[in-house]
Amino acid sequence: MHLFLFQIYFHLILIFTIIAKYADAANILIVTPFSSKSHYIMLSPIGLELAKRGHNVTIITSIKQLNPPPNYHQVMVENKEIWDVMGTKRPVIFDMTRKSFEEFLNEVLWNGGLGFAEMALKSTHLQEFLRKNNTFDLVISEQFYQESLNILAYKYKAPLVLIATTGICMKHNLVVGNPLQLNTIIFEALDLKDHTSIWGRLRNIYITAYEYVWWKYWYLGKQEALMKKYIPDLEEPVPSLFGVQKNTSLLLINTHFSFDPPMALLPNIVEIGGLHLSRSNSSLPKDLQDILDTSKNGVVYMNFGSNVVVSEMDQQKLMAFFNVFRKLKQTVLMKWEKDTVENKPDNVVIQKWFPQREIFEHPNIKVFISHGGLIGTQEATFNGIPILGVPIYADQYNNLELAEKHGFGKILEYQDISEVTLGESLNEILNDESYKRNAEEVAKRFKDRPMTPLETTIWWLEYVIRHEGATFMKSEARNMSWFKYFMLDIYVVVITTMVVVTYLMVFAVKNITRLLGFNFKTNSKKKRS
Ligand SMILES: *[C@@H]1O[C@H](CO)[C@@H](O)[C@H](O)[C@H]1NC(C)=O
Ligand SMILES: *[C@@H]1O[C@H](CO)[C@@H](O)[C@H](O)[C@H]1NC(C)=O
Repeated sequence: MHLFLFQIYFHLILIFTIIAKYADAANILIVTPFSSKSHYIMLSPIGLELAKRGHNVTIITSIKQLNPPPNYHQVMVENKEIWDVMGTKRPVIFDMTRKSFEEFLNEVLWNGGLGFAEMALKSTHLQEFLRKNNTFDLVISEQFYQESLNILAYKYKAPLVLIATTGICMKHNLVVGNPLQLNTIIFEALDLKDHTSIWGRLRNIYITAYEYVWWKYWYLGKQEALMKKYIPDLEEPVPSLFGVQKNTSLLLINTHFSFDPPMALLPNIVEIGGLHLSRSNSSLPKDLQDILDTSKNGVVYMNFGSNVVVSEMDQQKLMAFFNVFRKLKQTVLMKWEKDTVENKPDNVVIQKWFPQREIFEHPNIKVFISHGGLIGTQEATFNGIPILGVPIYADQYNNLELAEKHGFGKILEYQDISEVTLGESLNEILNDESYKRNAEEVAKRFKDRPMTPLETTIWWLEYVIRHEGATFMKSEARNMSWFKYFMLDIYVVVITTMVVVTYLMVFAVKNITRLLGFNFKTNSKKKRS
């Protein structure tokens, strides 16, 4: 009898759990149209995990997920290379090392950003999707030069979550009302040798002001024009895109204080750095496994990521690499885009693609020669691998500078590559054990967290859904004028009061002494005589 009751009880619990699960399931829209492999690698686990937990996920994307779960709906937008979008010839990426920050911002980020946003917005599938009467409980949007699409949060009257595939920057701080912290936080794509020096801070504040003015008063206007053209039937009055962003409920950023500089963050800014990282559950292909297992002196792994084409490298610099590699007792794995290569040393193995995650987990990997992309840097950090970095553009210099600061990385500027400099740097990392020791130390603390970054992400997303936008987390500061934000009105009041009071006191003392008939000058003369 008891057993029977228990069984009924158990079944009821089970049914309630299932109902509760369905009741909690939300309709979630994810907006990640930017077609870069590295952004996809970082962002795709979020939607897949949400779907796994029973949410109905719709994702606007340019990279198709194969074998998605049934509750994962993909709205495909066009996928083109940035150069085709902008209608320019594909440059040699290595030439970007010569571009100033301002040129990079104008030519690549802003022009490219507008081109990408328009390409996504006019895609047939997206236009079809916009015509349907969908409802969403949450809109998650990548914050990457595509602000026009943030308006979808307004369209569906849903809380907005922004995700930055980079770290914090002026734009992110500004829209949620977080302090800018320009003394320690530098713009992600700005390479500054000594950012806390007076010149470093001056350059940082200049770039911040430069970016702010052009972004707020020019770029956002261009994005608004795209929004009006391609997202019709928005309820009037349509808010500005700056206003939409100020309404952000949650900002997820791809950093973690165990590697990135520590900073003050409002409760609605959450660090999820390393989100895409986990131990691999697949094994290496047989040939690579054999090479790695049998390289007794270890393996040097060189991969400049998906955008930098190594075979386009300046011939002399390439020869420097080969001449240094030839003298190593280690094996070298090198990502190379072509079928053949001239003058390749015997200990160098070229392939067009490498299973990076599995390679990093092999104990014989000694050093990673990298361009410093964030994804690769995080993967090396996670696995405790020393880095020799040749930064090319964007945030790469800063990522590598952090690795250098933590003692497991070394920067070699592209212009400075020669057989001598490269040989010295590489041998230093291979022979000085502190690099490996520090790499393992950072790996340990990078992983030491109360929840994995993916769990953290899902927890906060569901938190925002549970609390319908969690308005209480939003800081009042985001709606203040800059005058009020920096307390300038208070300084004016205090300083004016102090000046007036001092003046009145001096005035009063002068007059009182005169009234009482004192004359300081004659008085003092009298005393002396
Ligand atoms: C899930 O989202 C899609 C939109 O992509 C919508 O058509 C469908 O009705 C939603 N399903 C549920 C159960 O809400
Ligand atoms: C969407 O809803 C509106 C008003 O409720 C209706 O007029 C329209 O036909 C609907 N569109 C679709 C595609 O169902």
